Amino acid sequence: MGTRRVLVTGCSSGIGLAVAARLAKDELRRFKVNNAGVGMIGPLECQSIDAMKNLFDTNFFGLARLVKELLPDMKRRQSGHIVVMSSVMGIQGLLFNDVYSASKFAVEGFCESLAVQAMKFSIKTTLVEPGPVVTEFERKVYEDAEKMDLSGTDEETAKIFREVYLPYSKKIFSSLGQTPEEVAEQTVKVITAKEPPLRHQTNRLYMPMTALKHADPTGRLPLDTFYKMIFKHDSVFNATLGVLRMLQRSTGKK
Ligand SMILES: NC(=O)c1ccc[n+]([C@@H]2O[C@H](COP(=O)([O-])OP(=O)(O)OC[C@H]3O[C@@H](n4cnc5c(N)ncnc54)[C@H](OP(=O)(O)O)[C@@H]3O)[C@@H](O)[C@H]2O)c1
Repeated sequence: MGTRRVLVTGCSSGIGLAVAARLAKDELRRFKVNNAGVGMIGPLECQSIDAMKNLFDTNFFGLARLVKELLPDMKRRQSGHIVVMSSVMGIQGLLFNDVYSASKFAVEGFCESLAVQAMKFSIKTTLVEPGPVVTEFERKVYEDAEKMDLSGTDEETAKIFREVYLPYSKKIFSSLGQTPEEVAEQTVKVITAKEPPLRHQTNRLYMPMTALKHADPTGRLPLDTFYKMIFKHDSVFNATLGVLRMLQRSTGKK
């Protein structure tokens, strides 16, 4: 089917491993998938600038280096497909994910800008945007969070992080989390489509959250909604997750 050109970064585990296995199964060898990425959560005051730079080096500069390397050849051949593992956090920021979300916004801005030039050379661009996915990523992020020195922030922020954010976030993963295989299946489906989209969100249950952003360009609607969900409406948050869990069971996680 393809020209034996396949490159998936970060495929030792999780989504990258599942995507590489899925592409190999169908002998789909014409894709470059930039998947490698790391997470970071916690109060900003407790994170060093060096740690933030390291995260950007993997999540953003890893992509920039790869594309810079591959683009000239793709342009010469007038073909190719740049597939990038972004995140819903590249669309909508989330409490205590400031730096991670910033890195995915950078990825989105980079690809959105480049896609126009790429199109002129018949090169396709697709940003895959998963919501929560149960992988090593989640385990590593929570492990780091448990060990995190919170002395750099005030007591109230530390309490919000430990007692509100972490339990909520774990509930979101257990209620809405996809498997890496589900993300891989959808990735292969969208990138092999006749006209692949620039963006694809893999988790339908997370879409109402990202839709808020497009519904109000002033940003007030998503800001107020997230604020109320986290700080005011504990019961609403739990009930919403309960309904979503039921919906997920009844649709067989399709
Ligand atoms: N899990 C989620 O909830 C979720 C949601 C949305 C988007 N994503 C995105 O999906 C992608 C894959 O994440 P995952 O959940 O599959 O996590 P994962 O299981 O931790 O896999 C991450 C992969 O990236 C590699 N990697 C990390 N830093 C690297 C570096 N500096 N250079 C080269 N490779 C590096 C890792 O290799 P080593 O282990 O060998 O370092 C591993 O193979 C990431 O871009 C992440 O941001 C994840």
